[in-house]
Amino acid sequence: MSKKLRIGALASGGGTNLQAIIDRCADGSLDAEIAIVISNNPDAGALKRAEKAGIAVRCIDHRGYNSRESFDQAVVDVLREAGVELVALAGFMRLITPVFLDAFEGRVINIHPALLPAFPGLHVQRKAIEYGAKFSGCTVHFVDNGVDTGPIIIQAVVPILDDDTEESLAARILEQEHRIYPRAIQLFAEGRLKVVDRRVIIDPPLEQPMAALANPPVEPAA
Ligand code: GRF
Repeated sequence: MSKKLRIGALASGGGTNLQAIIDRCADGSLDAEIAIVISNNPDAGALKRAEKAGIAVRCIDHRGYNSRESFDQAVVDVLREAGVELVALAGFMRLITPVFLDAFEGRVINIHPALLPAFPGLHVQRKAIEYGAKFSGCTVHFVDNGVDTGPIIIQAVVPILDDDTEESLAARILEQEHRIYPRAIQLFAEGRLKVVDRRVIIDPPLEQPMAALANPPVEPAA
């Protein structure tokens, strides 16, 4: 049996994406193991989920550090100690510095609840509704020095409905996050993600969808 990819997950909140990764590791559809879960927030639900699954956890409170760099160095030290090969940011509400990116070059990924490059940053479900977009979705991408700007690995699209609230749209997007994040990690684990300029090419390739979506629909409903 081949060695499993060792993931370090960083989360600040409830941890439903972390849970999706835990579940896919447990059912064998993700050929990886979570070596450690780190949170900057002592109250993060993600820490409880990890503990329940028997995963090592560390809380590193950013308020105990006087610079972003010193905080990042402490996180990097713990990740290295745990033998982490891929860092998955899962609702980690801290901007990371070159200290972090240099230590894990090409090995930090993030999930974002919008179709990048539209709506980077925070409160993006509300922004997509207010803008009047007809679709949104989620994006897993490699992390670079910008905010939500790194090469895109996988995206899923959901419609924005006329009666959507920020909460209803966030829930629809979250369901897709839970599908695509483990998938992105599996492709990384298989060594199939090749970054060419800004593009992430899947090698060997997968059959790709050709169907286009429209919202509102173009064909009249029967
Ligand atoms: C998700 O919407 C993720 O895209 C964003 O933060 C949220 C985290 O949710 N980066 P959870 O903690 O995984 O439930």
